[in-house]
Amino acid sequence: MQKVLIAGGCGFIGHRVANLFLKQNYQVFIVDNYLSSDLSITTNLDHYKLRLRSLCGAKIIDADICNVNKINTLFNRLKPNLVVHLANCPSAKVVNSEPFLYGEQIINGTLSLLQASLSNNVCKFVYVSSSMIYGDFLSSVINEDHPINPIELYGTFKAASESIIRSYTKSHALCHAIIRPIAVYGPTGHTDFVITKYIKATKQSGCIVVNGIDNCLSFTYVDDVAYGIYLAAISSKAINETFNTAIPVL
Ligand SMILES: NC(=O)c1ccc[n+]([C@@H]2O[C@H](COP(=O)([O-])OP(=O)(O)OC[C@H]3O[C@@H](n4cnc5c(N)ncnc54)[C@H](O)[C@@H]3O)[C@@H](O)[C@H]2O)c1
Repeated sequence: MQKVLIAGGCGFIGHRVANLFLKQNYQVFIVDNYLSSDLSITTNLDHYKLRLRSLCGAKIIDADICNVNKINTLFNRLKPNLVVHLANCPSAKVVNSEPFLYGEQIINGTLSLLQASLSNNVCKFVYVSSSMIYGDFLSSVINEDHPINPIELYGTFKAASESIIRSYTKSHALCHAIIRPIAVYGPTGHTDFVITKYIKATKQSGCIVVNGIDNCLSFTYVDDVAYGIYLAAISSKAINETFNTAIPVL
């Protein structure tokens, strides 16, 4: 049986990815510190309960990805074939406000998972990055060759993690796929993200106020992103490739 380890698999996007693997009869291990940390700033407890209910076929392990020894011991015991890494705070505002804490989480956490993957013969490492690494888009439709020019720390840390992954997989027998989602929405989504605020405002008052009508943002439904991550993980064509997951705003 194929084994996948999903770091951040109790999260908004991660639990949908885990569900796709469960449906295909993968053995699913989730590494997530939602119980032992207060990092779940963007999520409420009811959302977590709903996600956990959908994950009954998975084995959930409460661990911090920055704990190098614990992560390596876990990999050694579980021997996953595939690793999907989503275990980061998704809010640029939160990351920018605590650079040391989240710099360590994003960079060292990625290093810890990469090192454990390498030592335990993982075949593919899938990293969920962000479209924030591009900075301001130079046109309304962009592809993966768009210049990388992050404006804030969140995008900078994500871009640094991407570079670390590329350099690791260039020099070792481990391949990668990188996914760059943009503004994801859907059930159990983050309460402080703009689309949730729009929906709330529409429900409460029947209207929303949009400032700056010239600005466009492409929102992506969570299951579309999850399916993109799943395909990148299982496809033999997605070897050392990077993918945007977005619907263009035209
Ligand atoms: N939500 C979006 O709109 C969006 C857009 C672009 C990129 N992303 C990226 O996608 C990934 C998942 O985002 P999400 O929206 O599902 O976030 P989320 O907060 O819902 O999920 C992240 C999960 O990772 C866990 N986690 C965080 N730090 C950890 C650590 N040190 N050790 C173990 N577990 C840890 C959290 O407990 C949480 O369950 C993130 O890397 C984020 O940067 C999200």
